[in-house]
Amino acid sequence: MWKPNKPCQLNREFDVDNREKPIGVFDSGIGGLTVLKEIINELPYENTVYLGDTARVPYGIRSPETVIRYSFENTTFLYSKDIKLLVVACNTASSVSLDFIRKNISVPVIGVIEPGVKAAVRKTKNNKIGVIGTEATVKSNSYTNAIKNMDASIEVYSLSCPLFVPLVEEGWTEGEIVTSVAKKYLGGLKDMGIDTLILGCTHYPLLKTVLTEVIGGDVRLIDSAIETSRKVKMLLENLGLNRENNFVPRREFFVTDSPERFLKVGENFLGEKIEHIEKIAVSS
Ligand code: DGL
Repeated sequence: MWKPNKPCQLNREFDVDNREKPIGVFDSGIGGLTVLKEIINELPYENTVYLGDTARVPYGIRSPETVIRYSFENTTFLYSKDIKLLVVACNTASSVSLDFIRKNISVPVIGVIEPGVKAAVRKTKNNKIGVIGTEATVKSNSYTNAIKNMDASIEVYSLSCPLFVPLVEEGWTEGEIVTSVAKKYLGGLKDMGIDTLILGCTHYPLLKTVLTEVIGGDVRLIDSAIETSRKVKMLLENLGLNRENNFVPRREFFVTDSPERFLKVGENFLGEKIEHIEKIAVSS
């Protein structure tokens, strides 16, 4: 198991000023902007700092050890930005590295698996839940384990859909090609009679229209991004760390590869303009 050279030294006392500190969000690349977008919807006055590891995306085909190493480096960077809360927006990173991150950082950490699972377990009526995600997410069994921990009687059908990420990155979120890929992937899940489908990947909320068309309008889609943003709001309120003043918030964006592509596709994901973006260096 990979270990950091030096652990993140993160023992800080919270004080009133901590409300002004940003929420840190990281993802393997652009996809996490779907999570940031929902956080901004839910908490419009919060300062935010986003890191997209665009140089090392995709995480979904990598080993847990590598994803843990990348995630820890991302965490260390965001910690240096003096964040008050960390959101691991990437499903793959949440699946394999959340425990490790939590052990090495003393600010609260929210991943995207648990909020999505809670909503799905609440909503299923026939106790048959489908999960779609990257190869690494499905292999990790993170969703299945979390669902079974909540209710062992629920049947879980998980499936990796590796072509969805590049299609969305290309901006192909509707049309013939993406519909036939979705049909090929989701046919089996449909036959299993699921009534709830967790979108276990940052990119999939952008495919909602096609997925509904293919799986059928009677299957509920669970958008982890929305569920996660609700959890972020609840946690900040519980900790008394929510920023209440309504001055314009500060939004910072960092990437690990050239910012051009991030800018071009990212504004689509985020649904608003990205003003300032900076490139940082990471290990290979
Ligand atoms: N962000 C990843 C996730 O949610 C998808 C892209 C990747 O494979 O890195 O799992």
